[in-house]
Amino acid sequence: MIKDEKKVVEIYSGLAGDYHEFRQKKSFYNEYIEMPAMIKMLGNLKDKKILDWGCGSGIYIRRLKNRCREIKGFDISPEMVEIARELNPQQDIRVGSGTKIPFKEKFDIVFAPLSIHYLKDLNPVFREVKRVLKKGGIFIFSTVNPIAKIGKTKKIGGKNYKVMFELDYFKLDRIEIFFKGKDGERVKVNNYLIKTGEVVRLCQEHGFEIVDYEDTKPVLNAKDKFPEEYSLYSKLPLFCIWKLRVR
Ligand SMILES: C[S@@+](CC[C@H](N)C(=O)[O-])C[C@H]1O[C@@H](n2cnc3c(N)ncnc32)[C@H](O)[C@@H]1O
Repeated sequence: MIKDEKKVVEIYSGLAGDYHEFRQKKSFYNEYIEMPAMIKMLGNLKDKKILDWGCGSGIYIRRLKNRCREIKGFDISPEMVEIARELNPQQDIRVGSGTKIPFKEKFDIVFAPLSIHYLKDLNPVFREVKRVLKKGGIFIFSTVNPIAKIGKTKKIGGKNYKVMFELDYFKLDRIEIFFKGKDGERVKVNNYLIKTGEVVRLCQEHGFEIVDYEDTKPVLNAKDKFPEEYSLYSKLPLFCIWKLRVR
């Protein structure tokens, strides 16, 4: 296991229960932005055998298991996998690393929702995804959109504004996000920013082609529930989704 992965295990193993609870509460960011965009990008799954890379507590597997031919998943955190298995007792969900995917068989689609950006070096991820994809298979991943992170939130006249270009896009290679841990303490998690040039280089190096790309927007039914966030993230894409095909 590489250094970044050891850190992930440490953090998510302590956070698994809280993370699952947070996801169950239908968080704005996941339920109203990332998931609808990812599900749209996945498209019609009727005859597809798919793999959830970094499945966390199994929320995606629960959502998709009746919409595809077969779904399997893995996550590096044993505690996350335990919850994912409880939620999806019929599915094959394994503990394992995305730099050494714990499956030998081939899939039509590998998808990775907000999970590959814990690694600075994505070469082993692309190598392994390629290994488990059928010829012409699809790799879809979502990540934090670097453009959304060069702004800083500032209070001006009592209101929060995003002040753009406060940070240097070229120097910014990771962001910190915070989850609420067991006793209410803030747990810091690092996400690396995956920029366009890097994806293009990884595709060239590992034999993938870009099929589609999306800058995310919240879905319309978030407007009444989360008016402020809806307004901001309708103008500023918080995540992006990449769809690649292996040659
Ligand atoms: C933000 S959570 C997302 C979980 C799930 N995809 C979802 O959308 O609910 C990130 C997950 O990625 C997993 N992860 C991060 N790096 C990984 C790696 N190298 N191999 C396998 N899983 C990894 C973490 O353990 C964690 O469960």
